Amino acid sequence: MNLLEIDNLHVDFATAAGTLHAVRGASLEMGEGEIVGIVGESGSGKSVTASSVLRLLPANGIYAAGDIRYRGRSVFSLSPTELREFRGAEVSMIFQEPGRSFDPIYSVGRAMAETITAHKPNLSEQEVHRRSVELLDEVNVPYPEQRMVNFPHQFSGGLLQRIMIALALASDPKVLIADEPTTALDVTIQAGIMDLLLRLRKERNLAILFITHNLALISKIADRIVVMYGGMVLESGLTRDVLHAPRHPYTRALLNSILSFGRHYTADQLQIIPGTVPNPYAPEPGCPFAPRCPLVHHACTSAIPPVVEDGHRHRCILPGVKE
Ligand SMILES: Nc1ncnc2c1ncn2[C@@H]1O[C@H](COP(=O)(O)OP(=O)(O)O)[C@@H](O)[C@H]1O
Ligand code: SF4
Ligand SMILES: [Mg+2]
Repeated sequence: MNLLEIDNLHVDFATAAGTLHAVRGASLEMGEGEIVGIVGESGSGKSVTASSVLRLLPANGIYAAGDIRYRGRSVFSLSPTELREFRGAEVSMIFQEPGRSFDPIYSVGRAMAETITAHKPNLSEQEVHRRSVELLDEVNVPYPEQRMVNFPHQFSGGLLQRIMIALALASDPKVLIADEPTTALDVTIQAGIMDLLLRLRKERNLAILFITHNLALISKIADRIVVMYGGMVLESGLTRDVLHAPRHPYTRALLNSILSFGRHYTADQLQIIPGTVPNPYAPEPGCPFAPRCPLVHHACTSAIPPVVEDGHRHRCILPGVKE
């Protein structure tokens, strides 16, 4: 059985301007200790899909269709108490800007102590302290004992992200969702965080759902890649299959942009694919990539291409045809 399964998820937002269709068919599976990368341009529905796993959508978010199952059980069937336990003990999440996730008036030691106590209320003060130091050491924060008294502003972005990871690990989760955890960091610091995640997967058998706009970055660590666009998963499969035999024109465009611009291209450079992402208020009736696709055909614009499984999964009526 898969550890986590997102099954044809649809999410809308009620907004003053009408209904915004943020996710319109996202599916993925992940096993224990597996690293799955969700990649796509800004606005493609990556964060909304990821936050849905923990049912962390804001009040105007509507789970319109589909299901999310953890160990076979729908997260939508969890009671409030079960949901509280699920968040942390099973699945933890870290975000792009660690600075914003910390309370500036709490020392790191106090933030660690609160998180540890929330999950293990019976530990003594000494045990909580020891556990805090162990966790900071596990994520390679230098001099962890001494740094416990420091406040968030006294750490660099890279160290804060490591502390964020330590907080996420305090509850011993089986899955870590990392939403663009290195996007705000420079390339060297980013590489250090990626190494840390790989080590945690190995040592803890931690499954990681890694969200990024950077295909080059994720292809180095992911077992499987999920390509999102316009709220849909357009292609997914084992990393080597997706990279070496991409079936979808959008995936091929992303790969070409790496070849043309080098491995450290940014979100803006993704814009080299001419055109803009679909309007989430009024999505095209057919393939979301049709307005930008070099292969577009009249059949592409009448209905959303169905999901096809041939080697790996994609949604294109002309899979594998070269532009
Ligand atoms: N709270 C919200 N209210 C309305 N629209 C939202 C909200 N959160 C996200 N969206 C919209 O949902 C779509 C998908 O967003 P998101 O998942 O954050 O994209 P990504 O993470 O891929 O950049 C975007 O059009 C975004 O504007
Ligand atoms: S379905 Fe048509 S428009 Fe969409 S990606 Fe395939 S060829 Fe292009
Ligand atoms: Mg996002």
